[in-house]
This record gives sequence, C-alpha cells and structure tokens, in this order.
Amino acid sequence: MEVKTSLLDNMIGVGDMVLLEPLSEDSFIENLRNRFDHNEIYTYIGSVVISMNPYRALPIYTPEKVEEYRNRNFYELSPHIYALADEAYRSLRDQDKDQCILITGESGAGKTEASKLVMSYVAAVCGKGQEVNKVKEQLLQSNPVLEAFGNAKTVRNDNSSRFGKYMDIEFDFKGDPLGGVISNYLLEKSRVVKQPRGERNFHVFYQLLSGASDDTLKKLKLDRDFSKYNYLSLDSAAVIGLDDAANFRTVKNAMQIVGFMEDEVQSVLQLVAAVLKLGNIEFKPESRSNGTDESRIKDKNDLKEMCELLGIEQSVLERAFSYRTVEAKQEKVSTTLNVAQAYYARDALAKNLYSRLFSWLVTRINESIKAQTKARHKVMGVLDIYGFEIFEDNSFEQFIINYCNEKLQQIFIELTLREEQEEYVREGIEWTNIEYFNNAIICDLIENHQNGILAMLDEECLRPGTVTDETFLDKLNTICAGHKHFESRQSKNSKFLTDHSLPHNCFRIQHYAGKVLYRAEGFVDKNNDLLYRDMSQAMYKAKHSLIKQLFPEGNPAKVNLKRPPTAGFQFKASVGTLMRNLQTKNPNYIRCIKPNDKKASHIFTDTLVCHQVRYLGLMENVRVRRAGYAFRQAYEPCLERYKMLCKRTWPHWKGPAREGVEVLMADLQVPADDFSYGRSKIFIRNPRTLFSLEERRRQCLQDLATLIQKIYRGHKCRSHFLLLKKSQIVVSAWYRRYAQEKKYQKIKSATTVVQSYTRGWQARKLLRELKYQKRCEEAVTTIAAFWHGTQARMELRRLKQEAQNKHAVTVIWAFWQGTKVRRDYRKFFRANAGKKIYDFTIQRIMQKYFLGLKSTSPPMSPVDKSWPARPYRFLDGVHAELRKIFHHWRCKKYRSQFTEEKKAVYKEKLEASEIFKDKKALYPSSVSQPFKGDYLEITKNPKYQKLNSSVDAKVLLADVVNKINRANGKGTARIFLLTKKGVVLADQKTGQVKASVPLPDLASVSVSTQNDGFFALKLKEGSASAIKGDFLLSSERLIEIITKLHLTGATAADSERLNIDISDEFLVQFNHDKVCVKFIQGAARNGNGVSCKRKNNRLLEVSVPTTA
Ligand SMILES: Nc1ncnc2c1ncn2[C@@H]1O[C@H](COP(=O)(O)OP(=O)(O)O)[C@@H](O)[C@H]1O
Ligand SMILES: [Mg+2]
Repeated sequence: MEVKTSLLDNMIGVGDMVLLEPLSEDSFIENLRNRFDHNEIYTYIGSVVISMNPYRALPIYTPEKVEEYRNRNFYELSPHIYALADEAYRSLRDQDKDQCILITGESGAGKTEASKLVMSYVAAVCGKGQEVNKVKEQLLQSNPVLEAFGNAKTVRNDNSSRFGKYMDIEFDFKGDPLGGVISNYLLEKSRVVKQPRGERNFHVFYQLLSGASDDTLKKLKLDRDFSKYNYLSLDSAAVIGLDDAANFRTVKNAMQIVGFMEDEVQSVLQLVAAVLKLGNIEFKPESRSNGTDESRIKDKNDLKEMCELLGIEQSVLERAFSYRTVEAKQEKVSTTLNVAQAYYARDALAKNLYSRLFSWLVTRINESIKAQTKARHKVMGVLDIYGFEIFEDNSFEQFIINYCNEKLQQIFIELTLREEQEEYVREGIEWTNIEYFNNAIICDLIENHQNGILAMLDEECLRPGTVTDETFLDKLNTICAGHKHFESRQSKNSKFLTDHSLPHNCFRIQHYAGKVLYRAEGFVDKNNDLLYRDMSQAMYKAKHSLIKQLFPEGNPAKVNLKRPPTAGFQFKASVGTLMRNLQTKNPNYIRCIKPNDKKASHIFTDTLVCHQVRYLGLMENVRVRRAGYAFRQAYEPCLERYKMLCKRTWPHWKGPAREGVEVLMADLQVPADDFSYGRSKIFIRNPRTLFSLEERRRQCLQDLATLIQKIYRGHKCRSHFLLLKKSQIVVSAWYRRYAQEKKYQKIKSATTVVQSYTRGWQARKLLRELKYQKRCEEAVTTIAAFWHGTQARMELRRLKQEAQNKHAVTVIWAFWQGTKVRRDYRKFFRANAGKKIYDFTIQRIMQKYFLGLKSTSPPMSPVDKSWPARPYRFLDGVHAELRKIFHHWRCKKYRSQFTEEKKAVYKEKLEASEIFKDKKALYPSSVSQPFKGDYLEITKNPKYQKLNSSVDAKVLLADVVNKINRANGKGTARIFLLTKKGVVLADQKTGQVKASVPLPDLASVSVSTQNDGFFALKLKEGSASAIKGDFLLSSERLIEIITKLHLTGATAADSERLNIDISDEFLVQFNHDKVCVKFIQGAARNGNGVSCKRKNNRLLEVSVPTTA
C-alpha cells in the first residue's frame, strides 16, 4: 500500500480550498467536482472538512486507512474525515481539551454516516482490552437501535434521522473510552400516524413485520402484511437497498449487546405492535338524540387485541375513545367525542406512545453505556442533528428542524468567521474586515422571547378562547410583518400581496439556507402536543409495566392541572442547553454537501452544490482564512515542527519560542511579506510557503533519520564496548585480588616465622638477663651475709676483748687493791698471820665444796655423764679425781646387782665392743640386739634332733648363714653351729653335717670394715680341716658369731686366741687357689644391698651400699 506523506502527494485538484488559486465560486465548485469525480469526497478549508456524499461505498474506510491516519498530522495526508477524528481524539487525549464534532448539512448530505465514521475511527484507535472493547461495542451498537426507531425513509434520504442526536463519549486520562451519554432532540412523531407521499413510517415497523419470526408475530397478534396497517404507507414500503428483515436481526442483536433484557425487548416490540393495532381502530358516527354525532368503534377486534397486548381493560380504553373529561378547578365535565375527535385522540395516543417509547429507549441505552467510574473524564461530543429540510409541504417539524440548523450555523459563524477575524485583531495583525452573512437575525426571528415566532405560538396555545392555526398566522402577520426574513401574503408588506407562490395559509421564512414555505396548519396542535387525560389514565391502568411507566401523568394520585410545557418551548430550551454545551468544547467541523437530489452516485449537480456552498458560507470561510493568512500556528508547535531546518534552532532553542521562529524564518529566507508575527502565533500568508517548509522538513527528516540511525548504531557499539570494558575490569579486579591474596598469605606466613624467631631471641635474651640478675641478687645476698658475718664476728671479738679487758682490769684492780690493802695493813699483822688466814680460808673453801657435792651429786646411772661445775680453778685436779671415783663407785654399785647370766651377756657385749668398736661399720647396729645364741632352738626343734645328737659338745650358737660359692659369688643357706669344740656347717633342709672344724684348726677370721656380714674362716695350714679350704660365709649376726667364736677360742685351754683381721681386702684359700675378696662401696639398691660378684678367677668383688 502506498503511504502518502504529504497533502501534496498525488493531489487531485487542491486538497485545501485555502490554497485554491484563483479563488472564485466557480473555481471552488470546479475543485469540488474535480475531486468528487476522482472519488476524493473530502476537501479541507483549513481545519474544516467538507464532505461530499458519494452515495456509494468507497474503499476508504478500511482498517489500513485507519492505521494510515493514526497519529499523523492533520495536513500530512490527503483530506479525510479520519484526519479530523484523529486530530480531535489526540488533542482530547494529549492536550486535555474536551472536543465536539459538529456535523452539519442538509438532509441526506451524509451527516449520520459521518458521525458513525468518526465514532468507529475513535473506537479503532483508542485503547484495547476486554472492558474497553465492551464499552466501545455498546457505544457503537446503540446506533442501529436508535436508527431503527428514529430513522425513516424520506424523499431526501432513505435513512433520514427523524430526531436530533448528540452523543458525549467519555474517556479516561489514557484516552480509553469509559462510556457515553446520548441526548435526543424532538422526534418527528407526526410520522407515526401520517407520512408524506413517497416516504415511510419509522424503520422499526417494517423491520418487525418482515424480520420477526411467525411465532413472534403470532404472539404480537400481527400479520406479515404491511397493507393491513393503516399507519404504514404502502407506496414506498419497500426501499431499494434496504433489507428490513436483516436489519431487524441486526437491531435485536444490537439491543442484546447494549444490554437490553429479553423481556425488555419483548415489551418494546409489544408497544410497537400496539401502535400498529391502534392505527387500525376506526370510528363511525352514531347519531344521538340531541342531534350530535357520537363516535363508535367500528370493529372492536383490533381494540381487543391491542388491549390484550398491553394488558388494558378494553372497556377503559373504549370509554377513553368516546368521552373526554375536562377538569377545571373542582369540576369534572365529561363530554362525548365525535368521530374526528376520536381519530385525533387515537393519533395523539399513537404519537405519544411511540415518542415516549423512543425516549425510554434512549434512557435505557444511557443506563447501559454510562461511565462506571466517577473519575474526572474528558468528553468528545458528536452532534448529528437532522439537516436543513425543504419539502413541498413543510410543517411544524420542519420549522423546528430548520431552527435548529440556524442555531448550528450561528455557532459556526461565531466560532469560525467571527472568531477568526477577532483572532487577527487579538494577535495584532493588520486586518481588513471581511463581510459575511450573519444569521443571528433569523435566529432572533424565531426564538425572540417577546415577538419570536415560537413565543407567539406559545402565546396562542396558552391563550383562552378559540385558538386555531389561522389566529396564529394572523398574529404572525401582524407582529413579524416588518422582519426582513419573514414573508406572508397577509403581511402588511405589500410586496407579497401578489406573490402566488405564497398561499394564504402559509408563511415563508428566508433561512440562511434558503426560503422555506411553512403551512400554518397543525402548528398549534403540534405545539400543544395534547393527549387527553382519559387516554393517559387508561394507559396508566395497563398491566404492562413499560406502558405504565411511560404514562406517569395518568396516575390519578398525581393529577397535575398545569399544562405541560409546549413542544416548541421544550425544544428551544434543549437547543439552548446544547449550544451552551458546544461552546465549552473545542469545535471540529464537518460540513456535509449533497451532490445531487436523486440520491445517485457520480452525479454532481452544480446548482445544488453551489446553493449549499453559498448558504453554508464556505466561500466566506475560505476568504477569511486566506485574506489574512492561510496558515497560523502557535510559536511553540511551529518551532517544534520546523526547528530542524535551521542550525541555530536545532536541536534545542533556549530562548522564547517566538524568537526561535524569527531566527528560523530569517535563516530560511522566507520573504518578509509572506508571513506575520502575531502575539502568540505565526501567520503564514501564502500556502506555498507552508508547502515549501513542509517539503524541506520532509527532506530534513530523512537526513535526521540517517543521523539518528548513525548515532544509535554508535551508541549501541559504544554500549557494547563499555560493557566489555566493564567486564574486563571486573575480571582483572578479581584476578588481582586473588593474586594479592596469595602474596599476602605468603608474606603473612614469612612474617610469622620471622616474628617467632625474634620473639624466641628476645625471650632468651630476657631469660639470660633475668638469670644474671638473679645471680647478682644471690651474690649480693652471699656477700652481704659474709659481710654481716664478718661484722658480727668482729663485733664479737671486740666484745670478748672488751669483757676480757674488763675482767683483767677488775683482777688487776683487785690485785692492786689487795696489794694496797696488804701493804697498808702489813704493819698491823704478825709475820705468820698471813699463812694462817690463808690456810683457814682454804679449809673453809674445801669444807664448803665437799658439803656442796653432797647436794649436787649426779644420778646413779652409769651412763649419766653429768657432773657439777668446778667452783675454783685450784680444785681442778680434785674435782676430776672425785668424778672418776664417783663413777667407779657407781659402776661397782651397778655391777653388784648383776646375775651370772647377765654377766656372761655383758661380757660378750664387752668382747664385741673391744673387737669391733670403731673398726667395723656393722657394729653399731648390733649393740642394741641381745645375743641369743641358739636362734634355731636346736635342742627343742625335733627337725634338728639328728643334727643335735651328732654334735657332742654343747651348742653355743645355732643360726642359718650363707655359704658363698666361689664360682659365682652366690650364697647357699647352711646351718651354722658353734660348740665349745668347734664349728659345724650343716645342710639347712636335711640337717646333714657338711663340714666340721675343730676350733684349734681355725687360724683366723677375716671381716671387712664395712656394713656387711661377710666373714672368712681361715684354717691352719696343714690341719685336717684345711683340705677343703677356707670358708667364706655371710650372716647378719656376724658380730655375735665372731664375738662368740673369739670368746670360745679364748676359753679353750689348749688353744691360743683366735686372730681377727679387719680389712677390706683379704685372701681366701679355696681348695688350691687363693682368691681375693675385695669390698667396695656401691650404690644403694633395693632389697639386700650387698652383692657379691665374681670378677675373675682370682677376684670376688663385694659391693656394699654406703650407709646414709
Ligand atoms: N461517506 C459515505 N459513503 C457512502 N455512502 C454515504 C456516505 N455518506 C452518506 N452516504 C449515503 O447517503 C445516505 C444518507 O446519508 P445520511 O448520513 O443518513 O444523511 P443525513 O444524516 O445527513 O441525512 C446514506 O444512507 C448513505 O447511503
Ligand atoms: Mg441523518
């Protein structure tokens, strides 16, 4: 699909009339025709869209077209109704301006179609979503419903709107539709009962009869035959191109979408059927006795069926058709109706029923489509009101419709022609006023409060007395006669007296769109819109809920005697409200033009078009736009749009927008008289200037697109590069951290090692110092001790010396005194007196000494060593001698108490002392032990009986000793017996005698000096016993054994004293060899400390532990 990017692209004729050269009515029409012939039905005058009715379907409303126009600038593409819709929608959404779309044109010019196109475009471009789509669908589907009930075929238009419609579509801030409100204006209800020639009743009647199923029709008591119904005109019941049956289905479907309940749809259809039935009720006159005619219903069947449909009691309705009750104040007067009145009442009921049904439909639709939220919303109003109408026979309805169109024209003039010219003045642009026709004067003729036609009509209607259309016309003739736009045969204006085109019962108004001849007949009635109260009360009694609802004034409880406002008054008021409403919104105009009167495509009737162009004031519109300036735009958007054309304004202009535009224009070298600067807008005179700007802009945009592409690519590459760089930095940072961590770990462990060495070294140094310090302290103490010792000793010596000296002094002094005394007293004594005194003194002293000894003599124990101290030195000898004597005496005393046995024991102890005292270390331990002798109790123990008997002499000592084996130094237990005759060694277990040595054979005994029990019995060489060699024995009771052996040997008469050798090394004769036994001091060991080891053949070493 080719996309147009400029108004100029492939343009047929001129798209915007403002650009038309030369500008004349002819060229204007020619341009329209040229474009129309090429299927270009839309043309702009500035922002106003002129729409020509093509009377055929054109392929310019496709979804692709919608996309093409979406979000594009108004002038960018070729003219289209979508461009206007888009502009309106966007400024609503983006600039928060309420919009209204005013569609004007005469009947059949395409207004309704245009309004539908606008709505469908907005629906297509606004937001999507389930909820939004539902709202859209409901808004769009309200059209078929209203069209079915409110549109009809007229001579001008097969689908002519017979009501005015203004629809407010509400949007939220995002531009999504929220809902809508529809206002309807004056339905042409006269059509229900009567249609002009060649026209039809409202579509819905035909649709129902052709589209409803047989079943439905049966229920509604209808026949599928138009001809059976008086209210349906027959000559044009079928319209070419209109499929009533299909439309009926569409309508039913639409009602469902909009939200009508099934029973509501049914009720509506019942009412429609009732209207048809109503039309078939006919009356006949019945003469009454008073000579008047009274109406009677001809055939009650239709009435019955209708009553059944609406649930009305037949008699009630029947009565309403025969009588009329007039209530005035307290009175109630009932009059009978004649046939004409009955017909009038019937038609009034039918019209009211239908028009109220229509209003109810609008209310019901509004209920469905109203916005659900109370949030602030923006509004787009679409006004599609019946177009200007000129029929052969124009009545009250046409008058009202044309009045409404006058008002719309007024608003157009106000906002475009007047506004525009005022804008120039406001903006300070030099301006010469352009004349145009202002239809305010016509509006005034109709709506003036005092002498306007509507005011007079109301006055007539409300006036007491007989009121007819003639009286109304008379009134007009008198009051409006002088008005420029009012024409009447009867008026005082002689000009029309002979005008045969102006019948007597008519008046003519020169509307802005042409002269229209109105027939006065029916004006009063239609304005009164009278429905007999009996009728409304009959309707209120109906069981049908909808119909009851439609006639609230029929409620007897709410009887209102006040006249309801007239139709004209109501319409004027609602049009007034509408105009005020439109003025608050930003207007967008679509001016529809009809190309021909035949509803035919491809036919362009110059005169007809020219007429419309004239009365629509389009030429003036173009002129005003062009005379000054073809194009204007506020500085900001203008600068925004063209700033790329100048280096100084691109991309941003910092100063005020106006200065920016000035710079821009200067830079583009636009001739100065081609444009003007207003206060807030720039005005461009020549459209060509604008086009050249647009063209340059288009060029520039291409370059900019390239630039943007370039910058974007650069940006993309750079972003990528930066990302890579960033990543690289991250990676290297992590690596560095890792490496640093490793390095740190190494340094840390090294540091720890170094630290530990240093600390060790420091600690050792400190220890050394401390030790040194301690030694010093000890040395100091020692030295101090020595020093103190020395000091003390010196002091002691000194003290001693002192004491001695003192003593010596005393002695010397005593001697000296004695000498002195003696020298002094010598002369008084005799020569031998001294000797006598001396003797006496000595004697006294001796006496005292001996007497003293008596009391101080020590105890009698021989071991006590105490002895009193000597009193005088000269008694030293005596004192010692006395002590000795005393001791001897004491011992003798002690000894004299001993028995023989005890003497023997002490003798032995004495002997032992003589032999061993201070010679052998074992001795001291033996002193306290008594010498028992027979340890084995050999005489008593039966075990040794045999041994005992084998020994002939008395046993002095019996004990177990160890015989030391020469080979290994170990001992073997032997029984050792000592008798007076000799020594016997026997086996310890058996008691068998191993050896027997007679005492004389013993040469000597050898023992060590130490604390051991070893002793050797040495035999005399050559004796009988010596053959086996000497004995080396060991016993704990060595001292006793040797002592007894020594004593026994001494007492034996025939032997000499036994020799006892005490030495640490002696020789022992074993068999043939002499072995040396050597005693050494060894370390103390557990158990028996003494051990004997053979060192070699000649040496046995006995190790004796040192005694502690
Ligand atoms: N844009 C259009 N494209 C095709 N046909 C159109 C267009 N506008 C109007 N028509 C035809 O003209 C007829 C009358 O248009 P309509 O909008 O009903 O006129 P109005 O509402 O102004 O009386 C329509 O029924 C339709 O056939
Ligand atoms: Mg219409």
